Amino acid sequence: MKLSATTLTASLLVSVIAVLLAIPMMLQWERPPMDSTQLGFRGLGMEQITNPRIAETLKALNTLPVPDDPVENDGVLVKNDTENYKNVQVLGDLDTAQFVRLMNAISTWVAPQEGDNAGCAYCHNLENMASDEVYTKVVARRMIQMTRAINTQYKSHVAETGVTCYTCHRGNAVPANVWATNPGPKQAGGMAASRDGQNLAGQPVPAYASLPYDPFTTLLNTPADSIRVVATTPLPGGTGASIRATEKTYSLMMHMSTGLGVNCTFCHNSRQFSSWEESRPQRVTAWHGIEMVRDVNGSYMTPLTDVFPANRKGPMGDVLKANCATCHNGVNKPLYGFSMAKSYPELSVPNP
Ligand code: HEC
Ligand code: HEC
Ligand code: HEC
Ligand code: HEC
Repeated sequence: MKLSATTLTASLLVSVIAVLLAIPMMLQWERPPMDSTQLGFRGLGMEQITNPRIAETLKALNTLPVPDDPVENDGVLVKNDTENYKNVQVLGDLDTAQFVRLMNAISTWVAPQEGDNAGCAYCHNLENMASDEVYTKVVARRMIQMTRAINTQYKSHVAETGVTCYTCHRGNAVPANVWATNPGPKQAGGMAASRDGQNLAGQPVPAYASLPYDPFTTLLNTPADSIRVVATTPLPGGTGASIRATEKTYSLMMHMSTGLGVNCTFCHNSRQFSSWEESRPQRVTAWHGIEMVRDVNGSYMTPLTDVFPANRKGPMGDVLKANCATCHNGVNKPLYGFSMAKSYPELSVPNP
């Protein structure tokens, strides 16, 4: 076949345009080679695909500070030293030496290290340590209770590894990965042009998916909608969910995958997403994690709404809350499964 000059130019032009159009897509694309690890039985395609080139970045994100050396007990409980401890409501059962050690650790984990309000001053009026006038102290007291609740009531998720303030905070006053109800940008066309909470490339749904961009308000909060969407009985009158609910579930699943740095098949056999029998045990751990995050946000974060100043809240006035990425930071076990909590046993006892 002979090609005319015009056809040739036209097809060249088409190829050039195709390449130009592909460039923005490539920005989201990770180049090969990738590593893969088999997770499920042979032949099921249950594999974990990892990019060896981002391993270093993840490692840096998940290194941890050296735990403070253990200290000897003073032999005096905080609650019995009313001279020096006037307003201790949660940590009264600690030995005074352990109390000071914990205050030091909390400062490293949560408070800024430089500036006027660095260290102890981030939560305390240094003239009067007993005072609750700095809001961060009131928040921190509740966070101590929350951390203890996670470590004692959610062993089904955090196992003996447990968490400390550092698991979420990583040396920042506000953890890097948090969420608040996201109304999306203002619409020129009003209601008629509504995006209905989706079709907005970017956060938190990765890969420029058109899925709902706020799966958290209804699925990782209290009260929560059901994540399950697959019908368990055939039509008609089946129990399947709406397309809208299904898209929210997928959006949350995308968050869970990226938050943990894993593929869907880390938990599911994609032959049947809803089947627990065919899932890996990690999916059960994840289920408990969902329950835990809902409780963290509903019982601890939201009740602090009035304590936080406006600059610590989202556009709708709700507090910044936790999701899977808050602790996991891109790896399947936060801090690669290292247990910092073991060095601070006072954070793994039930609240008084
Ligand atoms: C992230 C916030 C935070 C930081 C930083 C912090 N503390 Fe505290 N501190 C608290 C909370 C919360 C309490 C109250 C605990 C309770 O009620 O059980 C407290 C209580 C105290 C008390 C008891 C005061 C009293 O009379 O009731 C002392 C003493 C104290 N802290 C010392 C320190 C020192 C020293 C530092 C710096 C090394 C420090 N704290 C850093 C949150 C913080
Ligand atoms: C499950 C994750 C998680 C854990 C564990 C956790 N926090 Fe937080 N913390 C948060 C989130 C999310 C916020 C942000 C809330 C906001 O800004 O609206 C926060 C905010 C705070 C603030 C307020 C900071 C500011 O500048 O406004 C303090 C203080 C704090 N946490 C202390 C602690 C302490 C102390 C511990 C350990 C005893 C702890 N946190 C453990 C998630 C966590
Ligand atoms: C870390 C584990 C984990 C990962 C990764 C994960 N899922 Fe899930 N998935 C779950 C859990 C747990 C549930 C059940 C939640 C419940 O029962 O409330 C679930 C539920 C679902 C459901 C609803 C099933 C039903 O019964 O209606 C679908 C669909 C689904 N996931 C798809 C995906 C897809 C697609 C991906 C990858 C983008 C993915 N999941 C990644 C743990 C995971
Ligand atoms: C408060 C911190 C925290 C939050 C928030 C959190 N996790 Fe975890 N998660 C942990 C810890 C700690 C472990 C390690 C437990 C262990 O050592 O077995 C873990 C382990 C897991 C595992 C097991 C991984 C493996 O390799 O066996 C899965 C799956 C998981 N988390 C899923 C989730 C999902 C999904 C969410 C969000 C709905 C979530 N986690 C939120 C702390 C957290």
